[in-house]
Amino acid sequence: AYPKSVSIVEVGPRDGLQNESTPLSTQDKVELVEGLANAGLRYVETGSFVNPRWIPQMADSGEVFQRISRLPGVTYAALTPNMKGFERAMKAGASEVAVFAAASESFSQRNINCSISESIDRFHPVMEAADAAGIAVRGYVSCVLGCPYEGEIQAQAVLEVSQALLDMGCYEVSLGDTIGTGTPGSMDRLLNVLVPELTPGKLALHCHNSYGQALANILVGLQHGISRIDSSVAGLGGCPYATGASGNVATEDVVYMLQGLDIETGVDLDALIAVGADCCKKLERSTQSAVAQARAA
Ligand code: HMG
Ligand code: MG
Repeated sequence: AYPKSVSIVEVGPRDGLQNESTPLSTQDKVELVEGLANAGLRYVETGSFVNPRWIPQMADSGEVFQRISRLPGVTYAALTPNMKGFERAMKAGASEVAVFAAASESFSQRNINCSISESIDRFHPVMEAADAAGIAVRGYVSCVLGCPYEGEIQAQAVLEVSQALLDMGCYEVSLGDTIGTGTPGSMDRLLNVLVPELTPGKLALHCHNSYGQALANILVGLQHGISRIDSSVAGLGGCPYATGASGNVATEDVVYMLQGLDIETGVDLDALIAVGADCCKKLERSTQSAVAQARAA
């Protein structure tokens, strides 16, 4: 049976924009975040506090957080890889943070410049500080269905790092198909290992759509009882440390599919499509959402 409702984690302002070559102004980012919340999204990943020399697109995240007007009941979250990031996020007023690890050693080195176990060590003080401040922490695991450097990834490796993040206090783990090579077959095999160990309530799916498999993979996740889905308005973005990886699955397409399954999301699809169109115009790019393209035709 499918879940009755799904919470969508909108990652466009972070995962989307971190890999767009046309920079958006701070004001345009503010309008994007506000537009998404107004369209009914209850969780908006608003920016990240990483080394700005690594990800210049997110250098102004602090300002974005400070300028947005906030709706009650909406979580405005930030990526924080270490204590420095966490302190910046708190100063900016992030309502929640996320730490990010990988199931692949090579990806961990390229993305955050340390091994998987070193990354867990760096997260410990973040978890403690977050706990003291009453801030919830989400965990990400990258490369769960394949790595750009190592190819196939064992389900056991995904399970171990996911378990470590949950054990240290993350309230859920978002499983990242970073390069979008997963299929319903490989997703099903992975979830057959993870779901019985970790329970569906502790898992979210974060599917990039490079190979056009994301919606099918999400459907498999719903069948396993997972009810938290990451997506990016207009399918913006990609990953700077995974060449060829395209954006996340488009939020418009996820909402449309869920509506067809009678699964509640709280999102106003027409309003969302308008937000995506406005953002694409500013970025001078076309939308990656099939639903938005069909509605515009
Ligand atoms: P490092 O070089 O190992 O860090 O980077 P360090 O502690 O040795 O510090 C080096 C310099 O960075 C110092 O500056 C620090 O102050 C600075 P310097 O003294 O040379 O002037 N620094 C910072 N500055 C601002 N904010 C910080 C911060 N930390 C250190 N938080 C680090 C380690 C993680 C910081 C670095 O590797 C980094 O920034 N990586 C960026 C990773 C990233 O943002 N990747 C994209 C997001 S993850 C993703 O997209 C995947 C996901 O979507 C899921 C999926 O799809 O799979 C989540
Ligand atoms: Mg991602």
